[in-house]
Amino acid sequence: MELHEYRSLFPSVANHVYLNHAACSPLPAPTVQATQSLLEEQHLYGCRYSNGWMGLVDKIRDTAARFIGASPEEVALTRNTSHGLLLVANGLPWRSGDNLIVPHGEFTANVYPWLTLRGRGVEVRFAPMRDNRILPEDIEALMDSRTRLVAISAVQFGSGFRCDLHAIAAICRARGVLLCVDGIQALGQVPFNVNDPQVDFLSAGGPKWLMAPLGTGIFYCRKGLIEQLAPVFMGWRSTLDSENYYDYNMPWHPTARRFEEATLNIPGLLGLQASMNLLTEVGLERIRAHLLRLTDALADGLRARGYVITTPMDSESERSGIVCFKHPVRKAAEIHAQLTAANVIVSLRGDVIRVSPHFYNTLEEIESLLRALG
Ligand SMILES: Cc1ncc(COP(=O)(O)O)c(C=O)c1O
Repeated sequence: MELHEYRSLFPSVANHVYLNHAACSPLPAPTVQATQSLLEEQHLYGCRYSNGWMGLVDKIRDTAARFIGASPEEVALTRNTSHGLLLVANGLPWRSGDNLIVPHGEFTANVYPWLTLRGRGVEVRFAPMRDNRILPEDIEALMDSRTRLVAISAVQFGSGFRCDLHAIAAICRARGVLLCVDGIQALGQVPFNVNDPQVDFLSAGGPKWLMAPLGTGIFYCRKGLIEQLAPVFMGWRSTLDSENYYDYNMPWHPTARRFEEATLNIPGLLGLQASMNLLTEVGLERIRAHLLRLTDALADGLRARGYVITTPMDSESERSGIVCFKHPVRKAAEIHAQLTAANVIVSLRGDVIRVSPHFYNTLEEIESLLRALG
């Protein structure tokens, strides 16, 4: 199917020019259907679905694992990005005097879980952001013998900068430092495989580029590390046999499934599964190429109109589907209001406008944005 043919799955295209997937994606039709199927089941029959819901969850987890190149034993279904980051922050065996590294400018979801560790004597070191770039050498310069972990977003929310995860992973590995990736701004728009580059932990919520319902997410934990995360957030479904309600001495489940502590948002997760299947069908390489085309056209048009692009776009490897811009004189809030009035949906982030198209958006829609700017 050609990309534009998928537009029929997005009735939202009739409502506005939506270029805001770094905030939250409209749901594709198959995703809504998948979610609704379970809502209707519960509506009509109550808990009948409980007979088979474990099976559904296993299949969703398999789909999520395939999507990121992991084994299903290394994946837990979650409710948001923070859920996975908090499992790592609170689960690792920190010792007073340890430190970890987080870049400046990270979204707060990837800051607060680490800051709370200060109470346990862990130092949080902030790597500088240089012209919206985070450089592997700056991260390495902050490392010493007590550095335990680097926590970084694969794609930055405030600029769209895509860090050199290969270089950062190589530095971490050489130094015996763990790498924890916030993947919510990357998964669904750039191909991602947890083994290339090798990351230790990955957490991503579903509602942005993965086009999934709110309250869904996935967490990846490298196999050898599952046992290293302390059981700080364990519940009845963390056990080896969660259907055995009368044994209080069960061991924890040996796989990452132990991090799915209790009843899940299965309607939402069925939607996540449908969206991942759709994105796989469309093809992550094709999505990436299309987003480069759209953002090229956008950046050219903006520059021609006197706007300043704040997103690093010098090399393809540092680019994502996000482009941020501002005007040398006009306030970003004013530009944002102008675009909103023209029914073009983008985000205002600090002093920049953030534009984030997805695979079903067209060059005509980019033109609409440019026209709306006058
Ligand atoms: C980089 C990044 N991480 C995390 C989040 C959201 O975190 P959560 O999924 O925990 O709500 C966002 C945006 O909302 C984000 O841009």
